Amino acid sequence: MGVLKNIAILATIGSITYVTRRCLIGRRYCSSRKFDNKELIIVTGCTSGIGLAVVKELGSRNCHLVLGCRNLDSGEKTRQLLIKQFGNDILVDVFHVDFCCLSSIAGFAKRITDLQKPIYALVNNAAIFYHTPQQTIDKLEQTFQVNYLGHFLLTLLLLPTLKQCTIGARIVNLVSKAHLAAQVCPDLELHEKFEDTPNNRFRAYQYSKLCLVSFAYKLSSLLAKSSVSVHCVDPGNVETAIYRDFPQLSNKVSFYLQKPIRLLTVKTPYEGAQAVLYAILENQAPRFYIKEFSSQQDESGEINPIAKNPVLGDSLWTLSRQLCHLTHFSQLNKVQ
Ligand SMILES: NC(=O)c1ccc[n+]([C@@H]2O[C@H](COP(=O)([O-])OP(=O)(O)OC[C@H]3O[C@@H](n4cnc5c(N)ncnc54)[C@H](OP(=O)(O)O)[C@@H]3O)[C@@H](O)[C@H]2O)c1
Repeated sequence: MGVLKNIAILATIGSITYVTRRCLIGRRYCSSRKFDNKELIIVTGCTSGIGLAVVKELGSRNCHLVLGCRNLDSGEKTRQLLIKQFGNDILVDVFHVDFCCLSSIAGFAKRITDLQKPIYALVNNAAIFYHTPQQTIDKLEQTFQVNYLGHFLLTLLLLPTLKQCTIGARIVNLVSKAHLAAQVCPDLELHEKFEDTPNNRFRAYQYSKLCLVSFAYKLSSLLAKSSVSVHCVDPGNVETAIYRDFPQLSNKVSFYLQKPIRLLTVKTPYEGAQAVLYAILENQAPRFYIKEFSSQQDESGEINPIAKNPVLGDSLWTLSRQLCHLTHFSQLNKVQ
């Protein structure tokens, strides 16, 4: 009787946990899509978290994966993991890129274009959160450069190669609902170095993601008549190493105290990757802003209105080009 009672208790807890997680976290994205011609997919920051979960899911889809990694050893480990899981037929290249360095990004873009292959998808995923304010080698603030400006540069450098894709290329930016809290754009105070306070560290992340949404919004309208579509994906709250600098989670005691609630409400990297996979694999290019891939609802209300303001969008775009020294790249003056 005692054993049956324990089984019943466990079954009840299991069912409640399953239903709660299903309601809060959503379901898995199902697609049987496989590519025909080893289509090229670039993913930045795929040695951990959501990026790693994305490439592990793409491994079985007959595509050519380029992993953009700042640590080549971790990149090679990821490559070996994919080979072990999917066999020697899988086509994976590991290229170095450090988003703290604009010339490294230009070098990464060159290695990709040297493959002389159209790009099907560019997944702008690498990012940092709640980082100590620090200047990069380019004299720009690290969170601003890694999360936004570096991906702005990479996207524009790869745009001609994305346009060559005949099946409709996709640019997928990993954003966050944190962007809704940013109130100023462009915010020059956060471009170089700011005073290290908890509030400013949050602001830097929120601002970097607002810039990414604003850039994507403008690019999407510029590319409206082309075959390239642009998407922003908010993966929700996901248990990854991105919180390594955040005191409430980097502190072991506080982490384990919150664990039961986090188990119910926070996504695993695999779950966090679902909307990204949807943006890449859906047969028809999906909507611009994706939060719940399973929802048919218009999610444009999730976008900070600042990101849709054309005047602010133009200022950020012009400033970003200047910061990347792109003004002399004549082929990038015309995006359409
Ligand atoms: N986790 C969440 O709750 C959450 C919520 C909303 C949005 N997002 C977004 O989702 C994306 C993925 O985040 P995640 O949670 O999966 O984080 P993560 O596990 O920390 O992964 C971030 C990746 O970015 C790479 N990276 C960091 N700085 C880099 C640099 N300077 N150059 C090149 N690569 C660099 C990291 O490489 P190393 O391994 O070398 O550090 C790592 O591979 C990010 O854009 C993030 O803003 C996450």
